[in-house]
Amino acid sequence: MATRDRVLSGMRPSGKVHLGNYLGALANWVTLQDSMECFYFVADWHVLTDTSDISEVPRNTIDMAADWLGAGLDPERSTLFIQSLIPEHAELHLLLSMATPVSWLERVPSYKERIEQLHLESPSYGLLGYPVLQAADILMYKANWVPVGIDQVPHIELTREIARRFNHTFRSVFVEPEAKLTEIPKVPGTDGRKMSKSYDNTIELGDAAETIVKKVRPMMTDPARKRRTDPGNPDVCPVFDLHKIFTPEADQQWAANGCRTAGIGCLDCKDALLRHMLPVLEPIRERRTKFAEKPDTIVDVLHAGSDRARAIARATMEDVRSAVTLAP
Ligand code: TRP
Ligand code: SF4
Repeated sequence: MATRDRVLSGMRPSGKVHLGNYLGALANWVTLQDSMECFYFVADWHVLTDTSDISEVPRNTIDMAADWLGAGLDPERSTLFIQSLIPEHAELHLLLSMATPVSWLERVPSYKERIEQLHLESPSYGLLGYPVLQAADILMYKANWVPVGIDQVPHIELTREIARRFNHTFRSVFVEPEAKLTEIPKVPGTDGRKMSKSYDNTIELGDAAETIVKKVRPMMTDPARKRRTDPGNPDVCPVFDLHKIFTPEADQQWAANGCRTAGIGCLDCKDALLRHMLPVLEPIRERRTKFAEKPDTIVDVLHAGSDRARAIARATMEDVRSAVTLAP
């Protein structure tokens, strides 16, 4: 069998996976398993770039992995692992950091954004260097493709430049990866802003059907529809953004027309959405619940995957050490 292209991606363990994460990344990860050799990991060291409170990280890791498995990541086909169980990432990070000018890192947009968001007066060396750690994560597995959202593209570009520099300076060890952009639908949260844990407006993969109903029914709509008789505009309504994701064309038309003519009320529209949305999410939730009831199994899966990943990381580091031989 011809060797398949390799895919690698990671997610920070910041809690349960919501619809935005699922549609933006995880659903694509699941699909890629059919055609590529996939590595997906819990980016737990990356959490430390934002906070020193690690009390929730082990729990979040299990919750997130339950969502991964529920969504259809298959540990028989994909290697699922935990970054901090592979110390080789840290060694590679050190060597790559020597090949990375500080000025490249200061230009990375996410660095400035984090400083502003978190009001950091004295950002850590680790935060500045976080794209170098990400480069180590990717280059370690010689991944050809990195499925990520558009916000991560500067990090992949930087990874390519670091790989090129290393290969040129020492020996050609690394593959230059490419970002594999998913066409990410606009996923609004229940308040109409982008779905995000920090806005408290999420629908989670683990939410029961009743919970989703309770979140969708009061959802923000086109503010022009104050009364049932006021016509609305689906193009500015977050509920309609969700229809575009879950609802077949004919029913979308029905909702859009009904909205523009005030032929239907917003609750009719939301109930129609729920009729299409819940059956898609139900099997995922059922599977994730079964896994979540057996956290030990999840831990076993992640440790077994980490053993597989570590064997590859060790082989790469042998190449790297022979390219950068220091000790006599
Ligand atoms: N930086 C990514 C994020 O914040 C997570 C991440 C870490 C990652 N290392 C990676 C993604 C390597 C892809 C490849 O979402
Ligand atoms: Fe939004 Fe539907 Fe209400 Fe129109 S009818 S404003 S699309 S919820």
